[in-house]
Amino acid sequence: MSGTELAREAWSHKIKRRVRNAMGPWGVFIEGFVRNPVMVGSIVPSSRFTINRMLAPVDWGNCKLFVEYGPGVGTFCRPVLDRLARDGMLLVIDTNPLFIDYLRRTITDSRFRAVLGSAADVEDIVRQHGFEKADYVLSGLPFSTLPDGVGPAIAAATWRVIRQNGAFLVYQFTPRARDFMARHFRRIDNALEPLNVPPCFMYWGWKDAADGQVAND
Ligand SMILES: C[S@@+](CC[C@H](N)C(=O)[O-])C[C@H]1O[C@@H](n2cnc3c(N)ncnc32)[C@H](O)[C@@H]1O
Repeated sequence: MSGTELAREAWSHKIKRRVRNAMGPWGVFIEGFVRNPVMVGSIVPSSRFTINRMLAPVDWGNCKLFVEYGPGVGTFCRPVLDRLARDGMLLVIDTNPLFIDYLRRTITDSRFRAVLGSAADVEDIVRQHGFEKADYVLSGLPFSTLPDGVGPAIAAATWRVIRQNGAFLVYQFTPRARDFMARHFRRIDNALEPLNVPPCFMYWGWKDAADGQVAND
């Protein structure tokens, strides 16, 4: 590469960095989407209406470990930390290094852990953080566009890792996520949040004590 080309590339990186910094989390989210549209699945982070509704059924007094899959730029992280007990932990898992790096730099709460990895490995990741089970798992994963087999593997691992009376909280732009959940969770509450771009389906899969360790373990 010639000196002029090198200078042009350095200049272009500088401009991109400035634009990204000026746009804050939006810039990082859009860059993450442009680099990997299939895995990110959406170009707009969740609305505050979705966040409040999704988190409303959580029993925060009995939540020591809250796990989130696909946090992106952390739209849910601050609202979860605001509700979480002082001795609780929020453990987030994302496959995109751009997002994990951004979250580690911007969220300094001592209850927060960000792991670069796949939600399919949630059981190992939870154990590595000193827990056997999670109280709640929240997912913003684009289930319908994940590679073959990944969605079912994540749903099965999630069922196993959640404690009795805990729940799997899922939001998505298509109702397909429910199919993955229904293989394990017998009781699934649902709602549609219109004030989101696009409107989003919400599901709460409950691991009732009566379910025990059912057949689809
Ligand atoms: C639609 S974005 C979620 C955005 C964010 N949670 C929000 O509320 O705005 C989906 C996220 O899932 C992540 N992702 C995709 N596949 C994953 C997997 N197997 N394990 C963990 N994260 C994954 C993507 O990198 C992306 O951050």
